[in-house]
Amino acid sequence: MSTPIRFDNQVAIVTGAGGGLGRSHALQLAARGAKVVVNDLGVARDGSGNAMTPAESVVAEIRAAGGQAIASAASVTDPAAVQEMVDQAMKEWGRVDILVNNAGFLRDKTFSKMSLDDFRAIVDVHLMGAVYCTKAVWDIMKQQNYGRIVMTTSSSGLFGNFGQSNYGAAKMALVGLMQTLALEGEKFNIRVNCLAPTAATRMTEGILSPDDLELLKPENVTPGMIWLVSQDGPNKTVLCAGAGTFSRSNITLSDGIHIGGGPDAAEALAANKDKLFDRTGEIIPVAGLNQPMMELTKARAARG
Ligand SMILES: NC(=O)c1ccc[n+]([C@@H]2O[C@H](COP(=O)([O-])OP(=O)(O)OC[C@H]3O[C@@H](n4cnc5c(N)ncnc54)[C@H](O)[C@@H]3O)[C@@H](O)[C@H]2O)c1
Repeated sequence: MSTPIRFDNQVAIVTGAGGGLGRSHALQLAARGAKVVVNDLGVARDGSGNAMTPAESVVAEIRAAGGQAIASAASVTDPAAVQEMVDQAMKEWGRVDILVNNAGFLRDKTFSKMSLDDFRAIVDVHLMGAVYCTKAVWDIMKQQNYGRIVMTTSSSGLFGNFGQSNYGAAKMALVGLMQTLALEGEKFNIRVNCLAPTAATRMTEGILSPDDLELLKPENVTPGMIWLVSQDGPNKTVLCAGAGTFSRSNITLSDGIHIGGGPDAAEALAANKDKLFDRTGEIIPVAGLNQPMMELTKARAARG
């Protein structure tokens, strides 16, 4: 039996944690000892001013199970409110070890029917929301010399999905954000990873059979998040998780073919398409520099 993953004396912020995946993440982190800021928009479920907001209900669940949690009603699209949320965590518990960027919503339409406002709203919540939250905890994590951050990406961004150009673009942008922050955070023991979940939540309502709904419960994704934010978790990894299956998605670079830049280079490239698409020798670049290095190595070799 492996050592249990625990988060005693650690503080975690989970955005969009009033329901779905975020709620499952917050409950698991708290059950494993973390003090949790449960963030979600502050609208009471039944619309009455007296009822608990979704974040408050999850806080109540955590406390009932003996854990520690506070609610935050900040919208992740509001940098000032995000800063207040982080200040509140610091005032209450004095540190922030884990940030799970999970909040978001959908505005699906084919690209020709999509308004720029719908595109921007999705980029604002998924990409900029994660940027604001990460920016607000980054220097705290640097000073602590410890931090674990998860960006919630999606198969829609990694592989494309009809009707989700806004969402796919925002979700893939999070992978780009992760790739650089993972490099910048490394020397401060800050690790940044992406989680691409599949779960039956409000986002997938009405599409699945009851049996599949059970398989796709958020609780079958959360173990992936727990590993990503653990002390010995990876860095710079895109973890896909759904129905208890976990896989890694990679951005790779093929070995490439040197064609040169002569007048017939475009035609030569077209003629060598099969070689270009051959995946033998493909690598997962450590950083962007790997591409120019490979290109120059081949060009120098061709020059002799
Ligand atoms: N469910 C899936 O299969 C799936 C697949 C890929 C990615 N995701 C991603 O996982 C994350 C969680 O999705 P879910 O399926 O649990 O959906 P969900 O709708 O149940 O949860 C998202 C939560 O984010 C909250 N939220 C929305 N805007 C917010 C804001 N501005 N500030 C704070 N909170 C806000 C919502 O109120 C909601 O509670 C999202 O980022 C989603 O894009 C989900």
